[in-house]
Amino acid sequence: MKKRKLGSTELEFTTIGFGSWAIGGGGWKAGWGPQDDNDSIAAIREAVSAGINWIDTAAVYGLGHSEEVVARALRDVPRSERPYVATKCGRNWSSDGSLRGDPSAGRIEQEITDSLKRLDVETIDLYQIHWPDPDEQIEEGWEVIAKHVRAGTIRYAGVCNFSVAQLDRIHAIHPVASLQPPYSMLRREFESELLPYCRTNSIGVVAYSPMQKGLLTGAITKERVANFPESDHRRRDPMFNEPKFSAISAFVEKLGAIAAEYDRTAAQLALAWVLRLPEVTSAIAGARRAGQITETAQAGDWTVPDDALQRIEPLLEQLAKDLA
Ligand SMILES: NC(=O)c1ccc[n+]([C@@H]2O[C@H](COP(=O)([O-])OP(=O)(O)OC[C@H]3O[C@@H](n4cnc5c(N)ncnc54)[C@H](OP(=O)(O)O)[C@@H]3O)[C@@H](O)[C@H]2O)c1
Repeated sequence: MKKRKLGSTELEFTTIGFGSWAIGGGGWKAGWGPQDDNDSIAAIREAVSAGINWIDTAAVYGLGHSEEVVARALRDVPRSERPYVATKCGRNWSSDGSLRGDPSAGRIEQEITDSLKRLDVETIDLYQIHWPDPDEQIEEGWEVIAKHVRAGTIRYAGVCNFSVAQLDRIHAIHPVASLQPPYSMLRREFESELLPYCRTNSIGVVAYSPMQKGLLTGAITKERVANFPESDHRRRDPMFNEPKFSAISAFVEKLGAIAAEYDRTAAQLALAWVLRLPEVTSAIAGARRAGQITETAQAGDWTVPDDALQRIEPLLEQLAKDLA
């Protein structure tokens, strides 16, 4: 699979990364319902076989569980074939599964220790502040992360969900290796200010939810949403509910028809569309069972033809108006 350099780092990431939010399972506020760890492990191994060379996880996914499952899946993978692992910090949780932001120095120190243990590694390849929450503590947390980069516990430091103003504040303390923003056909706010900022400052971009949590695969029907378990947070996501859901479903049908003209699927087109921008290092494709990533990994080598991009653009403009 094609690789792109992550900003000014020495890491070369495959254009598709493996996203491990859903494999954290249910039992917490942002869960995806029950998940069989054997399915998760099969999905991760399939990603490695497909040539994906990096995995994105977070301490908070399943309250530590996703990191543990990633470690279990990679245990028997020969060292030379092992993907890079990126994780995140700055969230804390309570026993009832509720979350709160906490990038304080003490919390980040504790989280680094806990993630190294759960991931069973001596160095974290990419360590990211998950949310700039609370805003006034981002410098405090970033300084601790910078200290660990200097000590070698962390190779590179990045952030997710930061604004340009927040990036500016921490970039002055220690270089930001990467930004992880939401970016998909249904969420394009990254394009206006963050994209030029990342280009100018050589910050790598790893796009999250590029298939909009599965909506752009064409596999999400009204019936399926109605049958989502209560602990699948997508039940409460406005894009999975009316009036947005019908407008999105109609768009995805058209997307699937365009993709089929190129012997591709809607999911592959959604991912390759994100990768049309050279500033995007990689699209993080979530998967929770075998089969899914084999399909989506193929998007990593596909350049969407210009005529397809030109036909998609007016559909997206219309959809944006319908969803506004
Ligand atoms: N930094 C942040 O704040 C943040 C936020 C969100 C995500 N992320 C990262 O980005 C990753 C990707 O985002 P995401 O997981 O939200 O969504 P996504 O990649 O847009 O969609 C993933 C979901 O789509 C479905 N799917 C995947 N492949 C499929 C296929 N071939 N056919 C049919 N359905 C398929 C699966 O769910 P079902 O099978 O259940 O439908 C899967 O869990 C996350 O795992 C996480 O690592 C980060």
